[in-house]
Amino acid sequence: MARKKITIIGAGNVGATCGHWLAEKELADIVLLDIVEGLAEGKALDMAESSPVGGFDVGLTGTCDYQDTSGSDIVIITSGLARKPGMSRDDLLKANTQIVADVTGNVVKYSPDTYIIVVSNPLDAMTYVAGKISGLPKNQVMGMAGILDTARYRSFIAGALNVSVTDISALLMGGHGDDMVPLPRYTTVAGIPITELLDEKQIAAIVDRTKKGGIEIVNLLKTGSAYYAPSAAAAQMAEAIIKDKKRILPCCAWCRQEYGVGGAFVGVPVILGAAGVEKVIELKLTDQEKQLLDASVAHVKELTAQVDTIL
Ligand code: LAC
Repeated sequence: MARKKITIIGAGNVGATCGHWLAEKELADIVLLDIVEGLAEGKALDMAESSPVGGFDVGLTGTCDYQDTSGSDIVIITSGLARKPGMSRDDLLKANTQIVADVTGNVVKYSPDTYIIVVSNPLDAMTYVAGKISGLPKNQVMGMAGILDTARYRSFIAGALNVSVTDISALLMGGHGDDMVPLPRYTTVAGIPITELLDEKQIAAIVDRTKKGGIEIVNLLKTGSAYYAPSAAAAQMAEAIIKDKKRILPCCAWCRQEYGVGGAFVGVPVILGAAGVEKVIELKLTDQEKQLLDASVAHVKELTAQVDTIL
């Protein structure tokens, strides 16, 4: 059986690291594409040369040419500018809209029925760009943010409780911004509600750190933003699709009637399987949670309205 094919657009830190996670999992042959001559090729070759030590057998190709991405089962878009200290994700909107639109056009030219996972920021708006330009069915276009945000949240909780990160199960909704909506009510440690293990003040501090998790890394790195956790999260989404795992994961997905969103890509829990976003799971929210979600959706819609003025 021929291997599946995953293309990653952008061979910067997020793209290349994502390629590495995917290669180690032997999920598919991997094509890394970057506009910078030699960058994708060099990183793909370096990764391929690591494969005898890592023990993985996948094809690794680096290229500047979209033709090499033909027939991809999944395309992960990481292209675009990253934040510098003092910038919000929204500050990237204008430049990255053009970049993601251009990339998406090229992607669907060679892979007209692919699944697209967007990682570029501002995430929810860039997922909208990919959806709009690709014209793909909405279940085939999604954004990576919720897994990253919950991963940060889970790692902070595990640290606070001195337990395994794998035992923390958490959900989070809304846009990938400062108004994301963590849901402590739906956070458990091996089935035990977090509210029984940490007090309100401790949870509030963890939620706050989670919301600022991206900028915490930007401020430390100074020259760019996080990439290990974002790329691991994108790889997990690709794995759920390739293996038809039907995982329940928080992803940026198209919502119309769900949660009364009325047509926007926004972070919600979904079932992710071979058909991409197979279902948006509608949780019962408290009035306060719904208010937070509505505010986050309103913010996402402001950004997508700006996108519409550019495209
Ligand atoms: C972050 C960026 C990638 O949250 O959005 O780290």
